[in-house]
Amino acid sequence: MNPDPASTNAASSSTGAGSNGAAPQSNRNRTKKEAVTAQSGRSGGPSRPRYTYDAGEVLGNGSFGVVSEARCLETGETVAIKKVLQDPRYKNRELDIMKMLRHPNVVELKDYFYTEKPGGEKGESEKFLNVVMEFIPDTVYRVMKTFVRNSQHMPMILTKLYTYQMCRALGYLHTIGVCHRDIKPQNLLVDTKTHTLKICDFGSAKKLIPGEQSVAYICSRYYRAPELMLGATEYTTAIDIWSIGCVMGELMLGRPLFAGETSVDQLVKIIQTMGTPSRDQMQAMNPNYTEFRFPDVKPRPWNRIFHPGVTPDALDLLSKLLRYEPQERVKPYEALAHHFFDELRDVNTRLPGGGTLPPLFDVTEAEMQQIPPPMREKVIPSWYSQMHPTGPTGTSG
Ligand SMILES: Nc1ncnc2c1ncn2[C@@H]1O[C@H](COP(=O)(O)OP(=O)(O)OP(=O)(O)O)[C@@H](O)[C@H]1O
Ligand SMILES: [Mg+2]
Repeated sequence: MNPDPASTNAASSSTGAGSNGAAPQSNRNRTKKEAVTAQSGRSGGPSRPRYTYDAGEVLGNGSFGVVSEARCLETGETVAIKKVLQDPRYKNRELDIMKMLRHPNVVELKDYFYTEKPGGEKGESEKFLNVVMEFIPDTVYRVMKTFVRNSQHMPMILTKLYTYQMCRALGYLHTIGVCHRDIKPQNLLVDTKTHTLKICDFGSAKKLIPGEQSVAYICSRYYRAPELMLGATEYTTAIDIWSIGCVMGELMLGRPLFAGETSVDQLVKIIQTMGTPSRDQMQAMNPNYTEFRFPDVKPRPWNRIFHPGVTPDALDLLSKLLRYEPQERVKPYEALAHHFFDELRDVNTRLPGGGTLPPLFDVTEAEMQQIPPPMREKVIPSWYSQMHPTGPTGTSG
């Protein structure tokens, strides 16, 4: 092990803030208020400066850890801290992956430190990893719920913005071999001022190595790709593409597209909409399961499933994301060129409240290389290249 010198100094304390009305009212499902002060060093070298965090309200109480809002006393910046139990025998894969990542649509790791809960009389002490991230106030799940509560469909421009940014983030992750494996509305952070989206929760993420096996029991059920339900263990990053297809469908529907009650029922729900997979499609999902028998169901046309405001170009993209054959699903960087996103490339497009769109075209040279050459001019609008003549698009033409 390589103990973090800052972590040994970490101190924690509870304020014991009252639960009856002490916490400010908000639309979040905040359960309790806990204050933790800890000293740490930001990642990046032995001489890194120490920072102190004053933890506030709990933002999420997930299956793996507790996420709290916190304030960095030295910089005054608001951060989110995810605290997870750390088995001292293993490295934390979530942290290792987050350290590698840097993209405008992926939540930024700012720092990390360790804290310890002393053991009781016979119990051993427990070690916790605290992952410090930029704080993004909302999630796609909460934004969607607000529209549903008001009996409204989400404006199509938001569906475009969220789907586009999910594709861009996945394009980046998949290029470096990282499969997220838990894409769902709760793991998509949103800054509702600009509708910038950032993928979070790398607790299930893994760098997939071709030929190496991975567990099939992964990803939240509604967003789980059919090959996982069929027990495939040599799946690819295409499982994430299926998930974003499910999220896109949910954004337009206002409820999960395929809401299975069990893993088997999940497959049934998919078949009820997309029809029974052919033998070839079964073979593509899991070569060992071609003898599986399903009742013969015809596919339902996508336009019967959504409200009339859902345009044919939206359904065209959706059908390219939700293909049974994993290798046939559209690649994220190719999806960016789809005409469904043309409105985002129009210089006059504004957010529903009149604000400007978040940055969508600030691609790095590395990202540009991944976009198939014929699609590059389509993905980056000419007005943007003219405004940024030194960027990867400006220099290429
Ligand atoms: N950087 C952040 N800024 C603001 N809120 C965040 C941030 N990261 C996470 N959250 C909130 O905390 C919730 C839980 O975080 P995360 O998904 O990383 O934890 P988890 O324990 O893996 O959760 P689950 O098991 O439920 O997926 C998120 O759904 C989101 O609401
Ligand atoms: Mg999560």
